[in-house]
Amino acid sequence: MPLRFAARFACSEATLTVPSGQSGWIKRGEGKVSGFPSGIWRYPTEIRFGVGAIAELPSAVKASGIKRPLVVTDHGLAANPMIADARARLDGAGLPNELFSQVRGNPVGSDIEAGMKAFRDGGHDGVVAIGGGSALDAGKTIAMAAHQPRPLFDLHVSSGGPAAIDGSKVAPMIAVPTTAGTGSETGRAAVVTDESVHEKRIFLHATMMPKVVIEDPELTVGLPANLTAWTGMDALAHCFEGLCAPELHPFSDGVAVEGLRLIKEFLPRAVADGRDLEARGMMLAAASMGSTAFQKGLGAIHSLSHPVGARYDTHHGLTNAVFFPYVIAHNRSAILEKCDRVAAYLALPKGGVNGVMDWVLELRERFAIPHTLVGLGVDGARVDEIAVAAEADPSTESNPMPVNAADMKTMFLNALDGRLS
Ligand SMILES: NC(=O)c1ccc[n+]([C@@H]2O[C@H](COP(=O)([O-])OP(=O)(O)OC[C@H]3O[C@@H](n4cnc5c(N)ncnc54)[C@H](O)[C@@H]3O)[C@@H](O)[C@H]2O)c1
Ligand SMILES: [Fe+2]
Repeated sequence: MPLRFAARFACSEATLTVPSGQSGWIKRGEGKVSGFPSGIWRYPTEIRFGVGAIAELPSAVKASGIKRPLVVTDHGLAANPMIADARARLDGAGLPNELFSQVRGNPVGSDIEAGMKAFRDGGHDGVVAIGGGSALDAGKTIAMAAHQPRPLFDLHVSSGGPAAIDGSKVAPMIAVPTTAGTGSETGRAAVVTDESVHEKRIFLHATMMPKVVIEDPELTVGLPANLTAWTGMDALAHCFEGLCAPELHPFSDGVAVEGLRLIKEFLPRAVADGRDLEARGMMLAAASMGSTAFQKGLGAIHSLSHPVGARYDTHHGLTNAVFFPYVIAHNRSAILEKCDRVAAYLALPKGGVNGVMDWVLELRERFAIPHTLVGLGVDGARVDEIAVAAEADPSTESNPMPVNAADMKTMFLNALDGRLS
């Protein structure tokens, strides 16, 4: 059987066969050793980290070969002084730039199409995306799609996929995260809702990885406590689902458990005091570690969260946080050993799945995150179509145990009724 790596959320670009001699498991000249797993293990990209790191923006842009950047942010941040400051730094370095801010939370196709037009009309040669996951994903998708010959929604992983993307036409981009959660800055994926079918679509290509990331904790200081908590819970879901995904990737597993430790120590601090720069900085690191970890894949938390977010416009991290314990409960038998490892490394009071479950429930309570979907304004009216969409989500393939639409329906209804069995 050929060694196969499916097009996962943020890792491989296509089904790949590992050539002879590429992995330690493969004997040179023999192609592969039957039965041994193998892999292509990627690391993210250059990260310029620290308080004041935004001063690095012009040199990062120049180092990436960009001369005329389009600055992309969401409409909520457009008037924030950090955007004017970043643009002034670019101007001061002789980098003429324009602002595109027609991006909503959970960006949709028409946002991206408008950004692609602004990119082409302005003669831009690269993107500087500043903001949370919505702005970064929009910036990444605009840079990827602006000059592709095929329509935008021919290019997502459930359609043409990475093979449909012409990598030579993808413009370089710089990512400046202002939330600590999605890890979009250190991933090759972007999530955009196709409003015509109400589905979140994932775009994935190796060339979509930002050339340089600027992580400046001061830029996250203004994020309100509730969004700090919700985005932090997204990072937690990334580290945890990445760790529990079955594919062999020991590097990612190591990153995931340390990411979880950082979240345990610093997320409550960042929520309690938004000006705590150490906590803000460590959460930025943990968020980037989350997307590094989920190169292996994600799981049913994200499979369920995506169709709910696309239909009800709920915040992604908050939606994950609601589903989290119900998915842990469903996956229990397949994650015993991974949870033991997490519980030991994090010194949780209890071991195994119960230890992780208690920790997550305690965080949810501390951050006033609703226990059921009802608290998100979600009801059961669309459960069947959500279950089918969740089964089809690219994250499902890497859930620690096989799950189908019936399992998704069970987990959804448990989350609706608050049933944690
Ligand atoms: N690419 C990926 O791998 C990936 C992974 C997970 C989620 N996502 C996507 O990311 C999006 C969610 O991103 P998010 O959770 O970062 O939220 P977001 O980007 O939607 O931002 C939430 C709100 O916070 C505001 N905001 C951002 N930074 C701020 C700051 N420093 N101060 C004050 N306000 C600030 C924004 O204006 C917005 O109103 C969703 O669309 C989700 O699907 C992508
Ligand atoms: Fe996520």
